[in-house]
Amino acid sequence: MTNLEFRHTEADRLPAEKRAEIFADPGFGNYFTDHMVSIMWTKDAGWHDAEVIPYGPIPMDPASSVLHYGQEIFEGLKAYRTADGAIVTFRPEANARRMNESAVRLALPQLPEELFVEAIRQLVSIDADWVPSGADQSLYLRPFVIADESFLGVRAAERARFLVIASPAGPYFTGGVKPVSIWLSETLARAGHGGTGAAKCGGNYAASLLPQQEAADNGCQQVLFTDSQTEDTIDELGGMNLFLVKRDGTLLTPALNGNILDGITRRSLIQLAKDRGHAVEERAVTVSEWRDGVADGSITEAFACGTAAVITPIRELKTRDFSIDFGDAAPGELTMSLREELTGIQFGLREDRHGWLETIVEAKG
Ligand code: PLP
Ligand code: COI
Repeated sequence: MTNLEFRHTEADRLPAEKRAEIFADPGFGNYFTDHMVSIMWTKDAGWHDAEVIPYGPIPMDPASSVLHYGQEIFEGLKAYRTADGAIVTFRPEANARRMNESAVRLALPQLPEELFVEAIRQLVSIDADWVPSGADQSLYLRPFVIADESFLGVRAAERARFLVIASPAGPYFTGGVKPVSIWLSETLARAGHGGTGAAKCGGNYAASLLPQQEAADNGCQQVLFTDSQTEDTIDELGGMNLFLVKRDGTLLTPALNGNILDGITRRSLIQLAKDRGHAVEERAVTVSEWRDGVADGSITEAFACGTAAVITPIRELKTRDFSIDFGDAAPGELTMSLREELTGIQFGLREDRHGWLETIVEAKG
């Protein structure tokens, strides 16, 4: 089952000049490459029909389970063009593992990790010309699994499909690494105890859209969720994990409490900070602690992190009643230095001492 052969159907490729126009300002999630991966699954036959096919609409029965009950999971990772011309991805096996953890929670089939990584490898090598080389640019990869059985009874589907699409990407936030403002969602939650908060499933993001709109209405770029029971205890942002930095260089980040995503960027930054000798506290972190810490000068920086966001400095947390503002002190020094180190590894400018890079296309010469 793991050594499925991929069939390749060649697409009508976009001419190089058109691609160059896209690379001039790709934004995030706006354009898609020439091909996509598709692998079918049924309860009886398991995973089969692995293909790289032209990117395009997929036929779907209106009774398909994903359209009614939201049985869906996804991942996000990037391919980078390195300084010496190679193409690499960052910790793809960690995404494979996390997708399988999400699959368990959403009662979807697990995909063998080697098959996930091979699917990424196939798509990125066939669409290698789509990996941009501009500053802070990469090819964002979106693997996902949808339940695709035509049946309206509420139970786990017996037919599913794994797909990978790819999109050339610049910074997630318009304005690049400019410090962002975030909005505290005080009444609406994205996750609750025993729910799907730790899984990467579409439903969590659907739940975040209204609070995200509220954030935008209040001039903020992202929404911050707290634990729905304690309200003051920070979980994470709509699509990113959160870190605070203390004056003594200690990093604080909410512990994996079952409601938040086990971010691969989060995990990597914890490692890089520890390598430098910084203390890292993974524990319950509260809004009050953030507020008091900024007031007395013991908390000096805050940042969001994730594959799409990379590391984005936070300038301000806004709530209905007060705001916590680092003002011109953002972006913080440690925030930017960790960002420089992480992206340095990803773009091949710094030693990959933890073996996080997976080479897809070797450097020339
Ligand atoms: N939290 C949420 C809700 C996310 O959507 C993401 C992005 O994938 C993250 C955290 C960060 O995870 P990662 O660093 O693996 O991209
Ligand atoms: C990612 O970083 O991969 C995500 O899925 C988050 C989303 C905001 C695009």
